[in-house]
Amino acid sequence: MSENNQNVYTVCISNSKVRTLNIAILPGDGIGPEIMVQGLNVTRSICNKFGHKLNYQFGTVGACAIDALGEPYPKVTHELCMKSDAVLFGAIGDPKYDNNPAAKVRPEQGLLKMRKDLGLYANIRPVTTFPSLIHKSPLRAELIDGADFMCIRELTGGIYFGRPQGRSEDGNTAYDTCVYTREEVERILHLAYKYALQRNKKVTMVDKANVLASSRLWRQITQEIAPLYPDVETEYMFVDNAAMRIIQWPKSFDVLVTENLFGDILTDEASVITGSLGMLPSASIGIHTSVFEPIHGSYPQATGKNIANPLATILSAALMFEYAFGMMEEGALIRQAVTASMDAGIVTEDIADGGRTYKTTEVGEWIVDYISK
Ligand code: IPM
Ligand code: MG
Repeated sequence: MSENNQNVYTVCISNSKVRTLNIAILPGDGIGPEIMVQGLNVTRSICNKFGHKLNYQFGTVGACAIDALGEPYPKVTHELCMKSDAVLFGAIGDPKYDNNPAAKVRPEQGLLKMRKDLGLYANIRPVTTFPSLIHKSPLRAELIDGADFMCIRELTGGIYFGRPQGRSEDGNTAYDTCVYTREEVERILHLAYKYALQRNKKVTMVDKANVLASSRLWRQITQEIAPLYPDVETEYMFVDNAAMRIIQWPKSFDVLVTENLFGDILTDEASVITGSLGMLPSASIGIHTSVFEPIHGSYPQATGKNIANPLATILSAALMFEYAFGMMEEGALIRQAVTASMDAGIVTEDIADGGRTYKTTEVGEWIVDYISK
């Protein structure tokens, strides 16, 4: 197990020694490059402040990689990721592929290949509320004030990767296959329980065991593993019920663990209850280098306008310091700076409260100034 991976299992590592950080920067498509500049500037300012040496190198992924090199996750990008200590990733996706179901190569394939080739079997999406944003939530304040849970989504299995996948010869029948192995389910469940031990000691395992065979494997293995963590309460929930509970009673969750497709859907739902999709970071961890990325997409309508919210990327950099390098103080300072920028009203239009709105670059610069002080 790599040093990286061990950090993941012991979420709180307090000794942040000065060292050299080798980071791969993959801005991707759409607003990716704009938000990434801010993520990188913040990373640089933290390194300056704490005396770390920062080495970084850019790589291409997504539609821009298809345009430049003919494939969405080129070998050179993979090699760069493999030799780096962490990857900071922006977003991928381009409308020219979304409306063309016949396209042979798609940007999203790059993201899936990156996850698979780096062995990133767990995607961790913390859902927390920001007091200054509560008024933006579609839910009533009393429902979400204080909500704080963590979604752990299995990321390299299930229907995203199961084979066979395709179409019948006449083109009129299509199929995907949901496959899970014991090993895949066990490793993500252990991760979920380890997180729960460091949080509020509750795991909610979300499945569709009343219908799906793969879900019944998840449920069986959870029943086997739960007794190994007697201090953690285990709750079983069908995914349709979970979708409802996330909006009805988000404070009832602590660690929510689920398979790939359910996790994809539930985390988008969970993200908006905090006020904006533009706020939530994520960490994808596993066998090789970990990847840190905002959970939002490439937001093509905003591309080049300098209006995209850079906070999810900046908060992803905070997760990177904490998870990949065990540098808790550095991560905390980024979070503090982000909260301060929101309290000061230095925000992009998606989270502004009727007052003045700021550009992507202005928000990033304010945060860098705060950190450098
Ligand atoms: C996500 C995204 C991706 C996914 C897409 C872009 C392939 O929605 O990271 O949640 O479905 O995993
Ligand atoms: Mg998604």
